[in-house]
Amino acid sequence: MGHNLEETARALVAPGKGILAADESGGTIKKRFDSIGIESTEDSRRAYRDMLFTADGAADHISGVILYDETIRQSAHDGTPFPKLLESQGVIPGIKVDLGAKDLAHAPGEKITEGLDGLRDRFAEYFELGARFAKWRAVITIGEGIPSEYCLWTNAHALARYAALSQEAGLVPIVEPEVLMDGNHSIETSFDVTSRTLHAVFTELRDQRVHFEQMLLKPNMVLSGYDGSGRAGIQEVADQTIRCFRRHVPAAVPGIVFLSGGQTDEDATEHLNAMNAMGPHPWELSFSYGRALQAPALKAWGGEESNVAAGQAAYVQRARLNGLARSGSYSPEMETPVAA
Ligand code: 13P
Repeated sequence: MGHNLEETARALVAPGKGILAADESGGTIKKRFDSIGIESTEDSRRAYRDMLFTADGAADHISGVILYDETIRQSAHDGTPFPKLLESQGVIPGIKVDLGAKDLAHAPGEKITEGLDGLRDRFAEYFELGARFAKWRAVITIGEGIPSEYCLWTNAHALARYAALSQEAGLVPIVEPEVLMDGNHSIETSFDVTSRTLHAVFTELRDQRVHFEQMLLKPNMVLSGYDGSGRAGIQEVADQTIRCFRRHVPAAVPGIVFLSGGQTDEDATEHLNAMNAMGPHPWELSFSYGRALQAPALKAWGGEESNVAAGQAAYVQRARLNGLARSGSYSPEMETPVAA
């Protein structure tokens, strides 16, 4: 694994592979653990990530893993630091560097992501710890009269400041503007807001001298709101998402790695598959899923050492199916119950 950023960016979107987002913050992982009734402690979090990162066969479909500040300092059960363990499998370690979305002043219902102060020094430390790519997430909410241009441009500005610092430090920035799909908005509204968001983001990235060849974009797909009626089907989502990104994402960007954002596991795989079946595209279309790769594994594990093999089998199955969706080779009939 060289230190060439463009090479790293391309390796992260290698054919048949995608990224595992395992960078849940303390608050988010507690929510996930609460859903299966287990306590979130430093050791239960370590054991859970250990299960995912030591799963045999996952590295065939996983190019990189996004870690959290606590996780990048933790080790597998045999004492190998997680970043070293991943590297030994040919999996690139990454790190979430934002400090979360907070209320945006004078903008009820809107958020701004924090974490720029001191970021240059934090990047230097993360590079030492083995991270070769990074992630920063901006959150855009659709609602009555929002998002405002104020929210879009302040978040885009912060994303570009982060991305420039990341490249300076030798890490590939994953730029993540997430338009939330909560609510009952139409797919047209989702298209419009995603479009405005990408316009602001790529304007700021360019103005702040970010090298497009050395970054990846991690966006939402263009979906109907989760609570809407008459929601768009798989092919319409694929069509609208591609139409939107063709208008805004320069061909110099090596890859678009979608977040799953609360879609069902199967929908996230099917949408990605449908988009790749429409290719070739100017960029690789891949995944950087959190919930859509982990949900069945988390459930099968349930916090029990004796269920580790079952949890790993569930994770590898989702990784494999999403790997197939990278080339449009997935079909829903491949969904079979996992036996450990
Ligand atoms: P989801 O795929 O669960 O949306 O998580 C991806 C992620 O990293 C969100 O920041």
